[in-house]
Amino acid sequence: MAYPYTRLRRMRRDAFSRALMRETVLSAADLVMVAFVVDGAGRREAIASMPGIERVSIDGLLGVADTCVELGIPALALFPAPGPEVKSEDAREAWNPQGLFQRAARALKARHPGLGLIGDVALDPYTTHGQDGLIDASGYVVNDATVEALVKMALAQAEAGYDFVAPSDMMDGRIGAIRAALEAAGHVHTRILAYSAKYASAFYGPFRDAVGSAGNLGKGGKHTYQMDVANSDEALREVELDLAEGADAVMVKPGLPYLDVVRRVKDRFGAPTFVYQVSGEYAMLKAAAMNGWLDERAVVLEALTAIKRAGADAILTYHAIDAARWLREA
Ligand code: PBG
Repeated sequence: MAYPYTRLRRMRRDAFSRALMRETVLSAADLVMVAFVVDGAGRREAIASMPGIERVSIDGLLGVADTCVELGIPALALFPAPGPEVKSEDAREAWNPQGLFQRAARALKARHPGLGLIGDVALDPYTTHGQDGLIDASGYVVNDATVEALVKMALAQAEAGYDFVAPSDMMDGRIGAIRAALEAAGHVHTRILAYSAKYASAFYGPFRDAVGSAGNLGKGGKHTYQMDVANSDEALREVELDLAEGADAVMVKPGLPYLDVVRRVKDRFGAPTFVYQVSGEYAMLKAAAMNGWLDERAVVLEALTAIKRAGADAILTYHAIDAARWLREA
């Protein structure tokens, strides 16, 4: 029935009826905090392109974990920022049981066994060339040899206590290979969060500064393995394969510019769907807020709510701690 019998503004008139018809409610339980870990003790390094986010040594990381637990943030996604001395052509530091990333997991699990830990599985922090995989003489990232390295890396992480291993590399077949190796090693509870629809995005720039891969990568792009920004049917094929190979959850990345992909993935598969609001998205909102051009709290909560509305079950975000605090005050 049309106007005047139908007046959509009636329900919007008061806070109580807006609350009753609200479809999407963001909570701290939807968020995953993202953190960068460096070796050493008492280290805290600012990241120029990500104001408010620091690379911290394990002692500082424990403080970040305390805050997550206190605020009801269920999980922490961790990325290593290893020094140049451990980088190599073959990235072997990635599966060193005594390496920084494995020690970080043991320390976090000893302190907070109930806080979910998500380990990044990709070679870029550990390679001298900054690519996510191993390269041949022409610089091309080779698939199958990279998958073998990723399997070793995932096993080392499962062994160290990561609850989720999260391959962010976009090699073909890596989910199946990692799943088979985890089963064979008895790690039947280790979850796989597959970066299934990961785009070759320019929004990752600040992250590459944070983990120190930007300089090494130089002009080298990742277009031979990450997805073309222009595609979305291809994202569904990637998700379908990753689920068939044994992924427990799939991810779309970046977030806000890719919500059409999120909606298609969620509608088609109904699987746990994570979204990564990436470093460049954080940098944009932060820079505008620092200039006084946008209201940080309002735009961050709006962006996160929009990502959830589009179909995200969980959101990896550098704003997680701030957002959880704001939600608690609300
Ligand atoms: C690399 C990786 C990247 C991000 C997560 N893992 C960057 C890249 O693919 O070059 C980006 C995250 C962000 O921008 O916040 N394996």
